[in-house]
Amino acid sequence: MRAGIIGCGVISDIYLKNLTGKYTNPVFTACADIRPEAAHKRAEEYGIRAMSVEEMLSDPHIDLILNLTTPLNHTQISLQALEHNKHVFSEKPLAVTLEDGKRILDAARERGLQVGCAPDTFLGAGLQTAFKALRSGWIGEPVAAAAFWSSRGHERWHGNPGFYYTAGGGPHFDMGPYYITALVNALGRVRRVNAISRRTFPQRLVTAEGPMHGARIPVEVETHLSASLEFDSGVIATVLMSFDLWSTNLPRLEFYGTAGTLCAPDPNFFDGPVKIRTQYDDAFREIPLVNPFTGNARGLGLAQMCQAIENGGSIRSCGEQALHVLEVIEAIDTAGRTGKCVFCETPYDPSELLPTGLQEPLYGF
Ligand SMILES: NC(=O)c1ccc[n+]([C@@H]2O[C@H](COP(=O)([O-])OP(=O)(O)OC[C@H]3O[C@@H](n4cnc5c(N)ncnc54)[C@H](O)[C@@H]3O)[C@@H](O)[C@H]2O)c1
Repeated sequence: MRAGIIGCGVISDIYLKNLTGKYTNPVFTACADIRPEAAHKRAEEYGIRAMSVEEMLSDPHIDLILNLTTPLNHTQISLQALEHNKHVFSEKPLAVTLEDGKRILDAARERGLQVGCAPDTFLGAGLQTAFKALRSGWIGEPVAAAAFWSSRGHERWHGNPGFYYTAGGGPHFDMGPYYITALVNALGRVRRVNAISRRTFPQRLVTAEGPMHGARIPVEVETHLSASLEFDSGVIATVLMSFDLWSTNLPRLEFYGTAGTLCAPDPNFFDGPVKIRTQYDDAFREIPLVNPFTGNARGLGLAQMCQAIENGGSIRSCGEQALHVLEVIEAIDTAGRTGKCVFCETPYDPSELLPTGLQEPLYGF
C-alpha cells in the first residue's frame, strides 16, 4: 500500500519514524500540509516528497491518506481523500461530531474503501494482555471499571495548543479516545452515559516554547469531566478526564470482577505492566505480556489495517470502533453540559485480539 500524510505537525514525526523504519507496509512516498514549510521539513527529514494537499489527493500513485491534521479538519480531509478514491487512516477523534463521523463511514462504504482511526495503543502489549486476561475470565465476570486521566493542560508542552480548547478539544475528545477505546474493547458497547463537567479556567497561558509562548488561549470547551458509563453487559465504569489538575495518585485503568481485580497499564501507551489480584492472591502479581509491541509503536494500527486490506482479516483500529468511541465522548460532553442521561445508538463489537507470539519485525498479522 502506498501512503501519503496530510498534516505535518508534532505527531507526524513519530508516525514517519516508525512507518519508514519499524513497519514495511504502507510505504510512505509523500507528505502535505497547508503550511508548505511544514511539509518540506518532514520531506527532508524522511526522504519523501513534499506536495500540496491538492496534488496529493489527485496523485494516482497514493492509495491511502494518513490524516494527521487537527481535529476540526479531520472530517473535511478524510471526506476529500475518500472522494479521491483513497483509503483513510485518521488521527483521533474520527470527527468532532457523531454526525460527521457517520458521514465519513458512509462515504467509505459507498466507495468500497476502508477507514481506520487512532488510537492504536490498545493493540500494544499492555492492553492486549489485559484484554486476554479479562476475556479468559481471570477476574470472573466484570462488575465495574475505572479510567482516570488528568493533567494541567497540553499548553505546557505543545507549541500550538489552541485546538485543545476549541470544538473537538477538551480532555474527553483529546485523551478520551485512548481510555474509551480500552474500555469498550474490554467491556463491549456502551449503553448510556451520565456526566458532570466544568470549565475551571476561562483562559490558558501557553508556557510551551515556541511562537505562542506567553499567549493566552480562550477556553471554549469543558475541561474537567466526571462520567459514569453503563455497558450493555450492565458493567459500570467511572471515568475522569481533566485538563485542570496538577497531579494525582489515581490509577489509569482498572477492572473489577466477581473473582478479582485487574490493573491495566496506561492506555496512552503500548507497554505493560499488567497486574492481577484474584480472590486467591495475597497481593497483586504481574503477568507476562502477550505481544512485542512496547515502547512507542505508533503506526501499528495503520500497518495492521494495510495488511488486512491486502491479505484479508479484520481491521482492528477500524472506523466503526472509532465511531462508537466518538459517540460515547460526545455523550459525555452532552451529559456534562446538560445534566441529562444520554443513550448511545451505534453498534459495536470489541475488536479481535492480535495473535499472540508475534515476533518483531515479522508481524504476520
Ligand atoms: N501531539 C501529540 O502528541 C499527539 C498525540 C496523539 C495524537 N495526536 C493527534 O494528532 C493530530 C495532530 O496533532 P498535532 O499535535 O500533530 O497538531 P499540530 O498542530 O502540531 O499539527 C497539525 C498539522 O496539520 C496541518 N493542517 C491543519 N489543517 C490542515 C488542512 N486542512 N490541510 C492540510 N494541513 C492541515 C497544520 O498546518 C499542522 O501542521 C490531532 O488529531 C491530535 O489529537 C497528537
